[in-house]
Order: sequence, then C-alpha cells, then structure tokens
Amino acid sequence: MRQAGRYLPEYRQIRANAGDFIALCTTPELAAEVTLQPIRRYRFDAAILFSDILMVPWGLGHGLRFAEGEGPVLPKLSDAAGVDALNIPRMNRAVAPILETVRRVRAGLSDEGFDQTTLIGFAGSPFTVACYMVEGGGSKDFAATRLMAYGDPELFSRLIRILTQATIDYLAAQIEAGAETVMLFDSWAGVLSPSLFRTHVIAPTARIVQTLRDRFPNIPIIGFPRLAGPMLAEYAAATGVNAVAMDTATNPVQATQVVPGHVAIQGNLDPMALLAGGNALDSETRTILAAVRGRPAIFNLGHGIVPQTPPEHVARLVELVRAA
Ligand code: CP3
Repeated sequence: MRQAGRYLPEYRQIRANAGDFIALCTTPELAAEVTLQPIRRYRFDAAILFSDILMVPWGLGHGLRFAEGEGPVLPKLSDAAGVDALNIPRMNRAVAPILETVRRVRAGLSDEGFDQTTLIGFAGSPFTVACYMVEGGGSKDFAATRLMAYGDPELFSRLIRILTQATIDYLAAQIEAGAETVMLFDSWAGVLSPSLFRTHVIAPTARIVQTLRDRFPNIPIIGFPRLAGPMLAEYAAATGVNAVAMDTATNPVQATQVVPGHVAIQGNLDPMALLAGGNALDSETRTILAAVRGRPAIFNLGHGIVPQTPPEHVARLVELVRAA
C-alpha cells in the first residue's frame, strides 16, 4: 500500500520537479523511477506500479485533477449523458504511458539485480472508481453513489459494466506489458448493503477474474474489498481471486478461519502502528505474523502508508517480517 509516496524524501524530490501528480503518473521515466525507489531502499519482495486508480476515469475522458490538500476532484457523474460519454478506446490509448512505465520497471528490476521481485499492476474496482465519479471526489459515506445504485439501478449497472470492461482491458494490457500479479483496490466496498455488495462488488470482480484467468491462467489476482467485514468470506469464495487483502479492522485469526484455504490472505498492519513505531509496531506486526503462520499469506499494511511515517519504521518492519 503506497510503497512510493510522500514518506520518502527521494519521492518528494521527484514529485516537486514533476509538475502535478497526473504528470508524474504519465511520464514513464519518472513513474518507473519512483516505483523502483522503495525496492532499492528496502528490497521488498514485490514492487507496485506507481500510478493511481483514478487514471481509468481520466483515460475514459471523464476528467480528473488532484487539488493540493483536497485530494482528487472529478466532474460529478449524474445522468445517462455522462455514462454515454465514457470512451473505452480513448482510455486504451491514453494509458499507453502507464504501460510503458510497466515495461521500464520490469526491465529496471532485472537490470538492478531484482530479478525475483514481483511487479504488481493494479486498478481500482469498478465500484470504487464509480464512487469517485458519482461523488466528484472522496466522501465519508458515498451516499450519492448508493442512492444512484438504488434509485436508478439501470444507469448505475451500465456504469459498472463499462468500468468492468475498461478494467479488464487495462489489467490485460498491464499483464502484457510485464505485470506479474494484479491487484484490485475496492476501497469503498464496505459502504454497501449485502445485496448491493453482491451485485456491484462480487459479480464484476468475478467477471474480471474469470476473463483475465481465461487469457492469463498463471497470473495471481489479489482483491482488496476494504471494510467488507462479514462479506469478506463470501468475496474470497465467490470472486475467484487468488488472494484477499484484509483492511486494518479485520481480525486475521478470523480471516484464516473463514477464507478458503487455497486463497492467500494479505495484510493488515495498521498504518498508524507503523507511524507510531516502537512497541506498538513490534507487537502488532508479531500478532499478524502469528495469525497467518502456516498458510499462504502476504504481509502488507491494512491501508495506505501515511506521509509522516519515518522511513526507519519501515526498515524495522521489514526486519521483523524477514525474521519470521
Ligand atoms: O506506490 C504506490 O503508492 C502505488 C500506487 C498507488 C497510488 N494510489 C499512488 C498515489 C496506488 C495503488 C493508489 C491507489 C488509490 N488511489 C486508491 C486505492 C487504495 C486506497 O488508498 O484506498 C485510491 C482510493 C486512490 C485515489 C487517491 N489518489 C486518493 C484518495 C489520493 C490522496 C490525495 C491526497 O492529496 O492525499 C491519491 C493520491 C495519490 N495516489 C498519492 C500517491 C503516491 C499521493 C499524491 C502525492 O504525492 O501528491
């Protein structure tokens, strides 16, 4: 979760000279460099492509900007005209620089002696991307999105279908460019009722997984249905993902009991424990390591690293996980 980013001085330096955040995401030389920076520093087992889940709406022609201190700002999508304007061929052309970044990172990892480091490509899930498009940015509860899903189910389903197809195209292109695993970020899955969760999270995710698996049988797919709570088990069983990422609130002991044994679990250190460091970091990390011992697992944070995190705390975390 956010390997690159504002907690690293070497990232901040490139970011300061890159212009805006979208320029950084679409300049392959710079995006590849910031993807590699944390690997050089910490030798993680996997590198995650530097980009953003909102590059899909950007590519579809919906518009996007990142306002300083405000987060992402998009036009609010509210009607059929907004959905009809989304253009998948346009997106497939617009993401060319991101695919070039994938190629450069894969080559860079090998050139720098990180042959064994897995390159993770990613996309937002259709539902979470739809959330940002309907609200026009972040929100605490994504009420307008849920209202559209109930009030105009035909329109909302059409939006989800278009985003599902765009996500399939985009992830397939990342895999062809050199991504060796892909991850779907469903940051707002947890705001949905069980029935909407099945319709707009599980079903589109299952379709993405099935379509990618038909084309690329050996590519592992990780799903992150954040705050899914009791729906995590159903998500893990019904979507076909190879791994589920747990958010910070998930009890990893319970997850090992309810997630099918062939599905790996990932997570879920609280980014605030990493920021705090010291005993909190050590004991929270050891609790997770003990919970997942003996089954397929990927150690990660439960959500994005915060900019104030001291880089030495990340070094300590790597030491703890490597020793396990
Ligand atoms: O190394 C990496 O960081 C991987 C690349 C990555 C980014 N965003 C880079 C980024 C990934 C995987 C994401 C995912 C993402 N982006 C999600 C899903 C995961 C999650 O956090 O729930 C979401 C919801 C977004 C949308 C988004 N992008 C938000 C809400 C913000 C924060 C804006 C702010 O000002 O705080 C971003 C910006 C963003 N994406 C940054 C990075 C490194 C910070 C931008 C900067 O340096 O100015």
